[in-house]
Amino acid sequence: MTKNESIDTTTAAATTGRRLGSTGPSVFPLGLGCMGMSALYGEADRSESVATLHAYLDAVPEGAHALLDTGDFYGMGHNELLINEALRTAPAAARDRALTSVKFGALRTVEGGFTGYDGRPEAVRNFLAYSLQRLGRDHIDIYRIARVDPDVPIEETVGAIAEAVQAGHVRHIGLSEVGADTLRRAAAVAPISDLQIEYSLISRGIEEKILPTARELGIGITAYGVLSRGLISGHFSRDRALAPGDFRGMSPRFQGENLERNLDLVDALRKVAEDKGVSVAQAAIAWVLSRGVDIVPLVGARRRDRLAEALGAMDIALSPADLAAIEEAVPAGAASGERYPAAQMAHLDSEH
Ligand SMILES: NC(=O)c1ccc[n+]([C@@H]2O[C@H](COP(=O)([O-])OP(=O)(O)OC[C@H]3O[C@@H](n4cnc5c(N)ncnc54)[C@H](OP(=O)(O)O)[C@@H]3O)[C@@H](O)[C@H]2O)c1
Repeated sequence: MTKNESIDTTTAAATTGRRLGSTGPSVFPLGLGCMGMSALYGEADRSESVATLHAYLDAVPEGAHALLDTGDFYGMGHNELLINEALRTAPAAARDRALTSVKFGALRTVEGGFTGYDGRPEAVRNFLAYSLQRLGRDHIDIYRIARVDPDVPIEETVGAIAEAVQAGHVRHIGLSEVGADTLRRAAAVAPISDLQIEYSLISRGIEEKILPTARELGIGITAYGVLSRGLISGHFSRDRALAPGDFRGMSPRFQGENLERNLDLVDALRKVAEDKGVSVAQAAIAWVLSRGVDIVPLVGARRRDRLAEALGAMDIALSPADLAAIEEAVPAGAASGERYPAAQMAHLDSEH
């Protein structure tokens, strides 16, 4: 696709869904990222979280698959148990439409700290056994290590998931935040459905090498942080107080002058969105949807009103002129600050 070519992201496209790579499942064009319902963005309301999950399942038409993204370390099991509750209490037809995408591998402390990653085959089997139990499912649809374990070759970690596929406990193998070389090494071991990686108007690092490599290998993209964790949602303000432990309190993009400059970009995007009669969040999500039918944004809605806003992005057709206006408001590389604090950047295979 050339840079200015627009694609149909509207409701008609929504019914057919988007296929994750050449070997993965077809899914509804927007996945629901459930992390914020358990961790990292301050307190979440449990009953509103379950209601949001139900509303998302409800929005997915018959014949399409809902995509629920989680990690076993989101709230140290809390998020998987929440999804279990939502699926148990959903109508059977909606439950049957749900696919689970689970990340594993992060090592935690009682106090909530992160101490590294474990991608050894015996650890993969252990993480998987606990996740299946917490989710109350007999299989996970897409399973992936959250960050590459630097002490374990990716071939061994992916090989262990491939064995779980053979055993029927996992349907597809995914990757998370890996670079082009690791994509190739992993794809040489077993079919990979999708790479989960940050991609938004202000995080465009994948465009140069990772996205073309994924396309060459027939690997789809599940894009996270499409609203840059709320920063470019249009709802984040300069004076917003963050709870202790909120990721954004440590994220370089939310600090001091970086925050000022990044919110100036949002103000420019707001003008474009207003001209188009859509919200800022909808413009940002529609832009990611427009980047290719092999890309499925995971929206981090944890309230029904936010979800409804995000779903509205699927009804927006961005013309070449709209895309040009958006790109002018938020040019590639315009973000101030790295997307993670330095210690976490070091864990990103995708940034090496
Ligand atoms: N593989 C990885 O390394 C990785 C890393 C991070 C996340 N993920 C996955 O990707 C998912 C999405 O990531 P994210 O939560 O950072 O993404 P996001 O969608 O960029 O950000 C979610 C934040 O945006 C705010 N927001 C404002 N308007 C919204 C709207 N209309 N719809 C949705 N959110 C809106 C939310 O608001 P409120 O504050 O009002 O709730 C929430 O704080 C996660 O849930 C997780 O499953 C993966």
